[in-house]
Amino acid sequence: MLTIENVYAGYGDFDILQGVNLKVNSGEIVCVIGPNGAGKSTVFKAIYGLVKIRQGRVIFGEKDITNLPPQQILQAGIAIVPQMRSVFPQMSVKENLELGMYLEKNPQRIQQRINYVLDLFPKLSERQNQPAGTMSGGEQRMLEIGRSLMLEPQMVMMDEPSAGLSPSMTKMIFENIIRLNQEIGLTVLAIEQNARQGLEASDRGYVLELGKNTYEGKASDLLGNSEVRRSFLGG
Ligand SMILES: Nc1ncnc2c1ncn2[C@@H]1O[C@H](COP(=O)(O)OP(=O)(O)OP(=O)(O)O)[C@@H](O)[C@H]1O
Ligand SMILES: [Mg+2]
Repeated sequence: MLTIENVYAGYGDFDILQGVNLKVNSGEIVCVIGPNGAGKSTVFKAIYGLVKIRQGRVIFGEKDITNLPPQQILQAGIAIVPQMRSVFPQMSVKENLELGMYLEKNPQRIQQRINYVLDLFPKLSERQNQPAGTMSGGEQRMLEIGRSLMLEPQMVMMDEPSAGLSPSMTKMIFENIIRLNQEIGLTVLAIEQNARQGLEASDRGYVLELGKNTYEGKASDLLGNSEVRRSFLGG
């Protein structure tokens, strides 16, 4: 579904990414792990047209999406859940979901999608008319994931879905990602600091170090690999 081939990209004149290769097949959960500053978020920004790719390409389905602007990438079918919190706390849960469809003008179509997302997340449904800021951090993260589904994406990219969450909320978020993958066949590319839990929720994984992917494979194999364990999973 998504292929990243030999991508070089960065800020100013300096390439943070130095030949990244990565693949996501339809229906998979794929996790990218790696230390702080390895370039994980930069990989996302490169896919999403937020930093310029100087060499290499990004293919989504049959389409070359290298260096397309974010809006066209969204329209091509890739939604994003960013690393920074992006819920509008004063707005209701429902209004936050509507923002995920700001390109759509047909109110019936918007209502249909809101109903679809609320059906997927009963917790959000209960709170739909309350300000989003009254919900817990984990519930707000669910809202961000729900909002990313408003435009019926084929794939969602999540930058550190567990960032800033308690262990129990982290578990809840990963359970929901797995549930969406099973229930609606959602394809997910996630980045995780929380390497062990990220890999445990995934089909395949990649390790990114100093702007290059070093290890890759089935998540279960990476979890069992002694070098990966020592360097990235705390022994
Ligand atoms: N806007 C920017 N301008 C210049 N350098 C940047 C910018 N954003 C990130 N960098 C640098 O690029 C490198 C990779 O950053 P990136 O955010 O991709 O890392 P990361 O793997 O996502 O780290 P973290 O785990 O902390 O989120 C870092 O050295 C960082 O300082
Ligand atoms: Mg990051």
